[in-house]
Amino acid sequence: DVEKAQYKARIKQLLIDQNAVLVAHYYTDPEIQALAEETGGCVSDSLEMARFGRDHPAKTLIVAGVKFMGETAKILSPEKTILMPTLEATCSLDLGCPIEQFNEFCDAHPDHTVVVYANTSAAVKARADWVVTSSIALEIVEHLDSQDKKIIWAPDRHLGSYINTQTGADMLLWQGECIVHDEFQAKALRELKKQHPTAAILVHPESPASVVELADAVGSTSQLIKAAQTMPNDTFIVATDRGIFYKMQQAAPGKTLLEAPTGGNGATCKSCAHCPWMAMNGLQAIEASLVDSDKTNHEIFVDEELRIKALIPLTRMLDFAK
Ligand code: 13P
Ligand code: SF4
Repeated sequence: DVEKAQYKARIKQLLIDQNAVLVAHYYTDPEIQALAEETGGCVSDSLEMARFGRDHPAKTLIVAGVKFMGETAKILSPEKTILMPTLEATCSLDLGCPIEQFNEFCDAHPDHTVVVYANTSAAVKARADWVVTSSIALEIVEHLDSQDKKIIWAPDRHLGSYINTQTGADMLLWQGECIVHDEFQAKALRELKKQHPTAAILVHPESPASVVELADAVGSTSQLIKAAQTMPNDTFIVATDRGIFYKMQQAAPGKTLLEAPTGGNGATCKSCAHCPWMAMNGLQAIEASLVDSDKTNHEIFVDEELRIKALIPLTRMLDFAK
């Protein structure tokens, strides 16, 4: 509509004027992803967002995603101004892993290699030996397991147990979860599959094990998009945030994409399967991040001592992923 078009036009101009680039996650709303594409920014998974932000020459990055993504950008590019549409966009995994308790957990197991998911605070990353995202987690744990390392894994228990079943690695799991993926229901998914017998089931490994067991492909957001693009099925049932449908449909035109059920009876619940924090990245908030003279609710800062410590495990991941 007209109002949205006006917002978009203003944001496009502001990005140019301020030498800024928009970096968006696949879970943001379709119009935000489209805007990132139209303005030469990027739409991607958390690993690629980190790489793109680090390598892009812009002076300012607008990170449309959740707070840990902005912090990762700042850790990698301290010389850049990192703005977010709102700093209130957090993540249940980050919230569920406070540094004080995490330190106690690590202190109790000093012989373990500490592997943390990117969905954590800068302080938790600073305590880690490795940071991983879902697209590289399996390979990194395989690598550590081949060296007989004992591993502390935090914070997502579902992703941790999935990796554990795949690798057989010696892993102690922190008991965190993503409130979005934790909602997918295996029973209702089996029912939906009966109604669509030719469909392939695509599952993000932050989902419960009972859902992962039903999957034809398990992977990060970028890996699931690739699966929809390359698998021959005409229909896909997708267990991850519905924001992914924008890119997945582009990658697999003509294919039918169905949301995996989050409630009983095979029904899809409207308020579920979409991260409430990702949803905060609206056009108005993006414009505000560029025009507000007071950046208190937008600009990311990371304590320099923490930043230097967190940079080590993050760089280790990026070098491994090359
Ligand atoms: P990926 O895009 O790395 O798969 O991450 C998923 C996620 O939950 C980000 O919030
Ligand atoms: Fe965190 Fe889940 Fe939202 Fe991703 S979808 S940001 S893991 S709460």
